[in-house]
Amino acid sequence: MTNNQDLMLRIRRMTKVFFPGTSNEKIALNRLNLDLKEGEFVTILGANGSGKSTLFNAICGTIELDDGIVILDNDDISWAKEHKRALHISRIYQDPQLGTAPNLTIAENLALAYTRKASPSLFPLNKKDHRFFREQLSMLEMDLELRMNTKIGLLSGGQRQAVSLVMEIISQPKLLLLDEHTAALDPQTSARILEVTNKFVRSAGVTTMMITHNVQDALTNGDRTIVFSEGKIIHDYYGSERDKLDPNDLQRLYG
Ligand SMILES: Nc1ncnc2c1ncn2[C@@H]1O[C@H](COP(=O)(O)OP(=O)(O)OP(=O)(O)O)[C@@H](O)[C@H]1O
Ligand SMILES: [Mg+2]
Repeated sequence: MTNNQDLMLRIRRMTKVFFPGTSNEKIALNRLNLDLKEGEFVTILGANGSGKSTLFNAICGTIELDDGIVILDNDDISWAKEHKRALHISRIYQDPQLGTAPNLTIAENLALAYTRKASPSLFPLNKKDHRFFREQLSMLEMDLELRMNTKIGLLSGGQRQAVSLVMEIISQPKLLLLDEHTAALDPQTSARILEVTNKFVRSAGVTTMMITHNVQDALTNGDRTIVFSEGKIIHDYYGSERDKLDPNDLQRLYG
């Protein structure tokens, strides 16, 4: 049995109903329970509208819950303000435009992420910090460490997602939430970003949830795959059971 102390995230009875009491009533999260161990990397599948992004919104405090509890690293954040939670929770969206400031350079974007969260400081960053940024960027193997003074707005979508990933990782979050962060990219770039996602998640050991509509990606990345339906988790696969899953069977199950 897992000791509660080893759990990075505990969610109990998480409930969100949109437009309650009207003909448009939508139960987006239906008394959802979920535990994540520290360092666990979970992939999330589920049909459109099944509540996956709402789960992320509820964890981040973007929406207020109707009921339920969210405990992050033994801290009850159920009612914490969004900006407080953002100190410990990082999120990357599908749209590469969202994570980065286009008129700032790569170095400036990284500095913002770094000083805002990991190393809150009013002082300019020193050479050591810049060396650290260069090292992190070089892990991408995209030559972006040679372009630290390039404005983000000049980069491709894939490059921007890669910089977003570095930004979120260097801010040392307790939880990383990836909401279809490769879905807007071409297949080759998407595969590349997934590869670096794995590399960063594993080397930082950060607890991660990744939403995807690609069954193959869901099974080949991370340690565990959960399947959403109508605001609930209907399947939770890990270990040998997950290893034995046939992607086609899984596709039929939720598609
Ligand atoms: N802010 C909101 N106001 C009203 N309804 C919402 C809001 N956010 C989500 N919903 C509704 O809640 C349900 C779940 O939406 P959600 O975005 O979580 O789905 P999803 O699983 O992320 O789907 P997709 O795969 O399309 O991204 C949907 O019916 C959606 O229309
Ligand atoms: Mg979504």
